[in-house]
Amino acid sequence: MLHNFVTDKKAELKIDGKTYYLPIIVGSEGEKAVDIRTLRTESGYITMDSGYMNTGSCGSEITYLDGEKGILNYRGYTIKDLADNCTFVEVAYLLVHGSLPTRTELDEFGSLLTSFGMIHEDLIHFFDHFPPNSSPMSILSSMVNSLSNFYAEMKGDPLENIDKMAARLISKIRTIAAFSYRKSLGQPLVYPNHDYSYCANFLNMMFDSPVKPYEINEEIVSALNKLLILHADHEQNCSTSTVRLVGSARVNLYASISAGISALWGPLHGGANEAVIHMLNDIYKTGGNFKKYVERAKNPTDPFRLVGFGHRVYKNYDPRAQIIKEACDKMLKSLGMSDDPLLDIAKELEDVALRDDYFIERNLYPNVDFYSGIIYRAIGIPSNMFTVMFALGRLPGWIAQWKEMWDDPNWRIGRPRQIYVGPKQRPFIPIEVRKE
Ligand code: ACO
Repeated sequence: MLHNFVTDKKAELKIDGKTYYLPIIVGSEGEKAVDIRTLRTESGYITMDSGYMNTGSCGSEITYLDGEKGILNYRGYTIKDLADNCTFVEVAYLLVHGSLPTRTELDEFGSLLTSFGMIHEDLIHFFDHFPPNSSPMSILSSMVNSLSNFYAEMKGDPLENIDKMAARLISKIRTIAAFSYRKSLGQPLVYPNHDYSYCANFLNMMFDSPVKPYEINEEIVSALNKLLILHADHEQNCSTSTVRLVGSARVNLYASISAGISALWGPLHGGANEAVIHMLNDIYKTGGNFKKYVERAKNPTDPFRLVGFGHRVYKNYDPRAQIIKEACDKMLKSLGMSDDPLLDIAKELEDVALRDDYFIERNLYPNVDFYSGIIYRAIGIPSNMFTVMFALGRLPGWIAQWKEMWDDPNWRIGRPRQIYVGPKQRPFIPIEVRKE
């Protein structure tokens, strides 16, 4: 853990003529940090970092990412190796348990996921009370939070039951997501089927119908596996930090994940995949003039941004976007849909942006959301479910991070400080004498 990576080196900080010595930490991939935990006690100073642009909140063994070089590894394995060779279930096991499963371990984990597929029948009634056109993300967040009332493994030490809880949640979130879609259409619910793999089961619950059975297409199943793997973790992003922060108050796993889902909903975070498709559609409907959108994105007086471009940590091509772009081409070809006009617009937009000084100077490249929506759309998933798909993929990462936080000897309740800039202390004014 983190204390093993504290070196003998110290950073020197001079304030008002006094020098403070701060320990230097070097991670296993060479990332460097200055440990400022004692600074306030010793000097009275805190550090300011709005948006946590340069603040490390924990040591973690789960995901390594180098935004300058475009590297993303889960538990030491490159995202490309995992996406090319694994199923999502295998990667979920890797993230939660720390090592790739043996055949027997994978079979056991798969059986657990299969056995937990159903949700309590009483929970199903909850779906009836959301108004029409409710956001699937709000439904997902509420339903996941509600699971804590039905499955109470959190009593006592939650880490004793974490394997069961993880499998339960990874399995049930898929059923909840599919049920919320079916309910939104007013269609009968399709229960999980023990004969199908994780992704095939999800597709069947989404699209099977009493009047037209859904045919499982292995190309689609493989593309979905890839997409979920690519979304499975991304170290301390907004939603993951939310899961850790909420969990740091020692609240249960379900409530912490529910908070993470709410954070992911935001259009600057997971919600961007839906926004990309709307943007591409708008460009298509208005005659395909993507250059106009590039100009708008560059205009400092226009709040418009090229959605699916830019990332807080990637200052290079997002490695996930590269893999998704290839998977997108392959899947559309095999489905006979390669003449998708939105894919053409996306590629042209990318081409123009990558050669434009504005984007080059700011290191703005396509991110994970830029091509994922095109695959979801081809699979038949409606755009308001795109962020739900992101949540399905991210869940094993959230669970792994929550588990790591809970077990961390350095754990403290998350509680940033601030610099107060409001009025100085002043005398109270009784209401009778306050001026209107
Ligand atoms: N289009 C046009 N300009 C952009 C874009 C964009 N997509 N993204 C950043 N910029 C510009 C900013 O205007 C700013 O320019 P300036 O220096 O002239 O003021 C500069 O690039 C830096 O941008 P910041 O907002 O400071 O970067 P930050 O790291 O805070 O934001 C973010 C990252 C939120 C992802 C941003 O790039 C963005 O809004 N992108 C579009 C939304 C999106 O695709 N989100 C998904 C991210 S991936 C994920 O969460 C899974």
